[in-house]
Amino acid sequence: MADEAQCIACGHCVAVCPHGALRVTGVAIEDCPEIKKDLVLSRDQAGQFLRSRRSVRCFKDKAMDRGILKQLIETARYAPTASNAQNLQWTVIEGRDRLEPLSLETVNWMNRVIDAHPDAPAAACFRPIVDRWATGYDGILRTARTLVVPPAPQESANGLVDLGIALAYLELAALPLGVGTCWAGLLRGAMPATPGLVASMGLPEGHTWFYPMMIGYPRFKYHRLPERKAPVIHWK
Ligand SMILES: Cc1cc2nc3c(=O)[nH]c(=O)nc-3n(C[C@H](O)[C@H](O)[C@H](O)COP(=O)(O)O)c2cc1C
Repeated sequence: MADEAQCIACGHCVAVCPHGALRVTGVAIEDCPEIKKDLVLSRDQAGQFLRSRRSVRCFKDKAMDRGILKQLIETARYAPTASNAQNLQWTVIEGRDRLEPLSLETVNWMNRVIDAHPDAPAAACFRPIVDRWATGYDGILRTARTLVVPPAPQESANGLVDLGIALAYLELAALPLGVGTCWAGLLRGAMPATPGLVASMGLPEGHTWFYPMMIGYPRFKYHRLPERKAPVIHWK
């Protein structure tokens, strides 16, 4: 699906045309609200907003409200997709009883990696997680009760990028609603090596997963903005 909506007066695309004299392909102009000037963020507001997104690893023991999650997904659909394909779907796995087996499968995978490659850096990283699992702490999906695993069509060449951007939008959209997120990279590591784990997620036919994300209500608030390494820029 391409963005072909153009003004018949000037040829500008629908988003930037100053005339409002539009020929729209596939999108009704009524569905494209005007940008409200009073809602535009200042540079400082935008800077703090973007910088205040953090990973949440300690969630309240409270089910994620489906209405709020739907709202977040609604916002994430405005993320760009390659060729404007907009072909992402959203699989939501709910409940500790569904999430704990996924963490267990991941711990089992970690143990296999540790056994096969005891001196590898991954083994050093996995050992404390496996040890904490034995004490009852889930270091994979933490205390999350909800996992989002957006699938994309198997043939999609840009699925990982499209989903990555959509999940980044979801994380940011979650901030003002008091909802916290964390990318589930450890679970993701286990997924290619554990087909049963992926099958248990029940993704739609003809679709594949790219990245899971934990979501829920944070138990604690961050009070400071993070610092990061200075960017390395190669001007050419
Ligand atoms: C692709 C990706 C995978 C990640 N996987 C995990 C994970 O498995 N477990 C975890 O606790 N944090 C995970 N994180 C969170 C990072 O550790 C975190 O973003 C980073 O330390 C910066 O902290 P911040 O998000 O609070 O700003 C992941 C982040 C990304 C972007």
